[in-house]
Amino acid sequence: MSTTADTLAPLHADMTAWRRDFHAHPELGFQETRTAGRVAALLEACGIPVTRGVGRTGVVGTLKVGSSPRRIGLRADMDALPIAEANAFAHRSTHAGLMHACGHDGHTAMLLGAATQLARTKHFDGTVHFIFQPAEEGQGGAKAMIDDGLFERFPCDSLFGMHNRPRLAVGRFAVRSGPMMAGGGFFDIHVTGRGAHGARPETGIDAALVAAQIAVSIQSIVARNIAPLDNAVVSVTRIHAGDAYNVIPQTAELGGTVRAFSRDTMQAIENHLRRVAEGTAAAYGATATLDFRVPFAPTINDPEQAEFAAAICSELVGADQVDRNPPLIMASEDFSFMLEKVPGCYLNIGNGIAEGGCEVHNPAYDFNDQALPLGAAFFVRAVEARLAAA
Ligand code: NI
Repeated sequence: MSTTADTLAPLHADMTAWRRDFHAHPELGFQETRTAGRVAALLEACGIPVTRGVGRTGVVGTLKVGSSPRRIGLRADMDALPIAEANAFAHRSTHAGLMHACGHDGHTAMLLGAATQLARTKHFDGTVHFIFQPAEEGQGGAKAMIDDGLFERFPCDSLFGMHNRPRLAVGRFAVRSGPMMAGGGFFDIHVTGRGAHGARPETGIDAALVAAQIAVSIQSIVARNIAPLDNAVVSVTRIHAGDAYNVIPQTAELGGTVRAFSRDTMQAIENHLRRVAEGTAAAYGATATLDFRVPFAPTINDPEQAEFAAAICSELVGADQVDRNPPLIMASEDFSFMLEKVPGCYLNIGNGIAEGGCEVHNPAYDFNDQALPLGAAFFVRAVEARLAAA
């Protein structure tokens, strides 16, 4: 008998209770001590050995059945956001100024449900690593786990993760092959000129003017240096120079963000940013330096793993409920760094079009508990199929 969402129905009440408990106790990235403690305790209660403190507050549970050397990784994120919750329901946040506005409470509960089910049924032959990641919201939790030896200590042949998607009906999945979500870069440009009296520009080099020219010239990068069929954006979102009306500033700073769907395009934009900043500054007799960092790699699904994930989804809900060509997402996700190490797939599960359907990162958001059994069923079926007993 094959696992379906109905198979997980007996765990629906437990998953809902865990999810609402996490929702009521949100914690920011690398501060998920209560959440991680609860995750570890629930895994251990099912007899799953647990490693704590992987990438600071991360937790990995490892369930080995049989003798096959095959291994699969399943990942959920645990952190919340610095948003004051606007909801009034009973499980609303009890931590002032913090809330689970991205559904990571639900992702964690779904993976705990799958772990509980797999520990009971053991219908597979091989090793499953349940990866509970901290600090997804821009603080580098995935990289912290990788740098802590995640895939050396817990090797995986394939890797799967899931994010809820508002405005996709409960009971639906969306699975893309190849690029799925943009990589995100943050940059700072430091301009140095020569300060002067505001009435005597001939004695100085105006860093504010140079910064303004750089900001304008940066907009030529996507327009003139990136292929029209590629997708990228560069936004200057910060410009700071000067403190007084009568002083030409000696220094100026610009900052902003880059989004693109391949490492090559991200690298090309970084190179052009440096050329434009340094060259423009030089034209005015100033200097400029670029600081560029990539907190989010592009999220790129391995085609074979995406086909596998889509097949599992079709088995669970029917092919007509699986969107195989959803639009590219300009937002970013740090599961991308794990997908650069292990072939895998990140997919979306419907969070509903009405109740619970408001956008993520909104103060009225809530994860839709109706999606829990299906999300857990995906993880269970992925294990049973990838590590099928002979
Ligand atoms: Ni999220």
